[in-house]
Amino acid sequence: MMRYSSLCSSYDYGNAEYWNTRYLEEAGASFDWYQRYSALRPFVRKFVPSSSRILMVGCGNALMSEDMVNDGYVDIMNIDISSVVIDILIKSRAHIPQLKYMQMDARNMSFFLDETFDSVIDKGTLDSLMCGTDAPFSASQMIYEVNRLLKPGGIFVLVTYGDPSVRVPHLNQPGCCWKITLYIIPRPDFKTAVGSSSLRSVMEPVPLTENGLLPPEYVLEDPESHYIYFCKKMEG
Ligand SMILES: C[S@@+](CC[C@H](N)C(=O)[O-])C[C@H]1O[C@@H](n2cnc3c(N)ncnc32)[C@H](O)[C@@H]1O
Repeated sequence: MMRYSSLCSSYDYGNAEYWNTRYLEEAGASFDWYQRYSALRPFVRKFVPSSSRILMVGCGNALMSEDMVNDGYVDIMNIDISSVVIDILIKSRAHIPQLKYMQMDARNMSFFLDETFDSVIDKGTLDSLMCGTDAPFSASQMIYEVNRLLKPGGIFVLVTYGDPSVRVPHLNQPGCCWKITLYIIPRPDFKTAVGSSSLRSVMEPVPLTENGLLPPEYVLEDPESHYIYFCKKMEG
């Protein structure tokens, strides 16, 4: 897959019509951006209990939510700005009572009351907003909403191509107070160079500096790695 950030300039990922057209063309097929649940599972299970009330923001046609139900999760509300994908999912997933679907813009989720969810999961949706017009404002609106909807102590799971220098400033906007634990994993198809031995285990969290950056000595094995931020909502 091409680097998402370079695709940003060619595709209108921030636009609902782009996604409606794409999901019509894909005609009900499934596709998971970045990583499948199987790769994320060890991290997700550590931070998100299976009894959690979960909001999947920008679910798309990924299998992530179904895979989580198959792994014991019992309550996942899925939202997406694309009415096309939500209509498809409402029909095709009607037999899975643990999954619910609603068309909604992540920048305005006023349908839900404050502190409704134990966990909010985003895989690729904030990244899409970052491609749209007015990107910083859109990102700020979405993070404000995620923070509002989480219970105190709740967990925002952000799976993104964005390294801390471009994501932590958005997360730490006024009104939000997170305890962030970061993991970095290579792309699923990344091949380690012959003869090189991995410097560290992906299961080890990567410490952030006081300024919310990667440690200067940190070396990315895959330069296009994916970043998994577990953000615990703290008292402000
Ligand atoms: C890169 S895809 C990721 C889909 C899925 N989460 C995955 O992991 O495969 C981004 C998704 O975000 C949705 N999206 C884009 N802007 C949105 C918004 N403002 N509110 C809700 N969903 C949005 C798109 O329709 C698309 O399904």
